[in-house]
Amino acid sequence: MTIKQSLQLASLILTLSIIFAIGINLVQQQHQPADSQKTVNTTAFAEEFRGAYPVDSAPNGNSVEVDLVAQESSIELIPNYQTSTWSYNGITPAPEIRLKLGDTLKINLNNKLNEATTIHFHGIRVPNEMDGVPDLTPNAVEPGGNFSYQFTPKDPGTYWFHPHFESAEQMERGLYGVIVVEDQYSELYSQDQVWVIDDWLIQENAQIYPNFVTAHDLMHDGRWGNVITVNSNLQEQLLVQPGERIRLRLVNTSNARIYKLNFGTLNPLAIAVDGMYVKDPFDPNHFELAPGNRLDLDITIPADSLGETFTIYDSFSRNDIDLAQIVVNGNAVQTPDFLPPNNPNIPNWDSVDYPADITYELDAQGGMMHIKWGINGEVFPNISPKKIKKGDFKKIKFKNNSSRLHPMHIHGQFFKVLSRNGIASNENYFRDTVLVHPRETVEVGMVATDDGAWANHCHILEHAEGGMMTTININ
Ligand code: C2O
Ligand code: CU
Repeated sequence: MTIKQSLQLASLILTLSIIFAIGINLVQQQHQPADSQKTVNTTAFAEEFRGAYPVDSAPNGNSVEVDLVAQESSIELIPNYQTSTWSYNGITPAPEIRLKLGDTLKINLNNKLNEATTIHFHGIRVPNEMDGVPDLTPNAVEPGGNFSYQFTPKDPGTYWFHPHFESAEQMERGLYGVIVVEDQYSELYSQDQVWVIDDWLIQENAQIYPNFVTAHDLMHDGRWGNVITVNSNLQEQLLVQPGERIRLRLVNTSNARIYKLNFGTLNPLAIAVDGMYVKDPFDPNHFELAPGNRLDLDITIPADSLGETFTIYDSFSRNDIDLAQIVVNGNAVQTPDFLPPNNPNIPNWDSVDYPADITYELDAQGGMMHIKWGINGEVFPNISPKKIKKGDFKKIKFKNNSSRLHPMHIHGQFFKVLSRNGIASNENYFRDTVLVHPRETVEVGMVATDDGAWANHCHILEHAEGGMMTTININ
């Protein structure tokens, strides 16, 4: 193409996109005349939230102390090969941390890496200065340095931790772990297990592909691996006996990959999303587990299933991918009999037809050659923080103007999905991360309970590092 032709093409594209943009405005104006929007009583919404989850922690005087060393290590991801990784204490996922609701957790981080790092506690409502986000909270821990994080979790459930500094590389190399905050339900199950789902981009020599946040990752939905593991095993198998009732906690620690769960012939119930109990346990088939999301399952192994193998698949992509298996063996046991845990106090907040308090438009910035990701046209760290008053109900709108996926995560708070593309949602639970599909608009409701400066970003780590991050100040 000559220079002249390409200039003509560029101006044609520009004209078309202007026409397209104007067209969209016209459609929106016809669709939403300003006076159609109801006024709602958000004070009543804030009132309805009371008792949904505790505002403060309730320390019981016990404490759990864990030393974590961030270090270079290696693990066997592919049989008979050692893959060089970064990890906490030599293994990925890090040694599982379990405590009881009310226990105080102290984590002593020692950084033996050659670069700075932090620990962020995803989903745990920690005091803001324990959130591990450099610039917003104490700075990153330099090589050779130490930092102690201390807090008392306010909510039982499944949480995880990971660096919030150079996260796309540090997490892909294997730095993450799980924190389970147990309540009285944990011991009623015959087993309480965690499945950490991650994907890795592995070269032929079994090493991690060493270029991170590439132009390709930025132009697409981040870095998708070619090897998927559960608890770092290619073929994870959970052994159970007929009649067992197990609690299985799924965590997606992938940089970017989404898993759409398919349980085949198994009949699990989802009892918690992002750590928090749901109002009505639901069928988790087709649930989209985006990066950052957790899902807790209550599974009864049929009494007559001796010798069976149940396979759990991911159906997000064109072909089903085998994730892991539950293998039934041994003597039948009596099935524990109790009602699945739930949270009856999830607010309804069912009215969708009123304007959002905060709108976040999600889109690419900077053009094909220097692609960046922005929120309302701003690229982190050049952002203008939003302010929310503690205790107020706010409707937040995520409007995805791009054709890419954006799992949006808000630190330190939980929110509830109100609508998708203007249609009321039937999600009877809180989340800390919601997948916003291409061109989709998702509205969420939130009552902020935790003070501080909190990050709000896409959990596709390459998009976050490409600028798709902003902050909310709550007080
Ligand atoms: Cu897993 Cu900023 O979060
Ligand atoms: Cu994104």
